[in-house]
Amino acid sequence: MPTVLITGANRGLGLEFCRQYASLNWRVHATYRNLKAKEELDKLVSTHANITLHELDVSDFSAIDRLADYMSSENIDLLICNAGIFGREESNRFGTIDYTEWMDALVINAKAPVKLTEAFLPHLKRSERRIIVVMSSWLGSITDNKNGGFLIYRSSKAALNAAMKSLAIDLRKDEIGVLIMHPGWVRTDMGGPEAPVECIDSIAGMVSVIDNFRLDEDTGRFIDFEGKDVNW
Ligand SMILES: NC(=O)c1ccc[n+]([C@@H]2O[C@H](COP(=O)([O-])OP(=O)(O)OC[C@H]3O[C@@H](n4cnc5c(N)ncnc54)[C@H](OP(=O)(O)O)[C@@H]3O)[C@@H](O)[C@H]2O)c1
Repeated sequence: MPTVLITGANRGLGLEFCRQYASLNWRVHATYRNLKAKEELDKLVSTHANITLHELDVSDFSAIDRLADYMSSENIDLLICNAGIFGREESNRFGTIDYTEWMDALVINAKAPVKLTEAFLPHLKRSERRIIVVMSSWLGSITDNKNGGFLIYRSSKAALNAAMKSLAIDLRKDEIGVLIMHPGWVRTDMGGPEAPVECIDSIAGMVSVIDNFRLDEDTGRFIDFEGKDVNW
């Protein structure tokens, strides 16, 4: 039974990743940061014995190390760095930038996935599949930025992309793969009610892309939930 570790799993895309991998009989380690906001996850656990919950704020790098130590006997086939923040609309807008929030976004969206990769590298190395997936965004694309705005979010995802592209090259020797994914514009708290893609379809698409992952062909790709390349 393969094992997946998913961050930010209490709602949105992370919760649906849990639901689908648990239904596919994977062993699921799901993290949440807020004890008071995990009712849906608790409901899912009550019907799926293959899900284990862990409290984790991904901006607390010592907590990441502690979780990696606690899970030292586990192999991780698939690490999904999903937790992310957008930042408030006005904080993202030039003229009313919130620089503290910008730093938070860089820590949560760009640095934490690298820290998670460092901490869980031994667990990945011991596994069969050896794949790291990070939730990036089309908004992190510099080529496709035709509308401006969203400074905090765009820059944090562009930084994530640059770091993970390097890791894809650096970790190739260990036969560990990296996928940088755009989930589509998805109807979650972050995506909002106007988003055209349902969570269930985005995750089903990404599960299929991950399932078809081939190290030589795919590592380091920036790819969407339908398997199409996204411009850097
Ligand atoms: N929805 C979209 O259209 C879309 C498009 C492109 C990319 N993405 C990316 O996909 C990922 C998931 O997005 P979503 O739409 O599911 O967002 P969401 O509904 O806002 O959920 C975000 C998740 O991240 C968690 N999180 C935030 N900061 C955290 C921290 N410091 N430590 C641990 N967990 C933290 C949240 O936990 P709490 O409940 O505790 O806040 C929540 O579980 C994000 O990385 C996002 O940037 C989404």
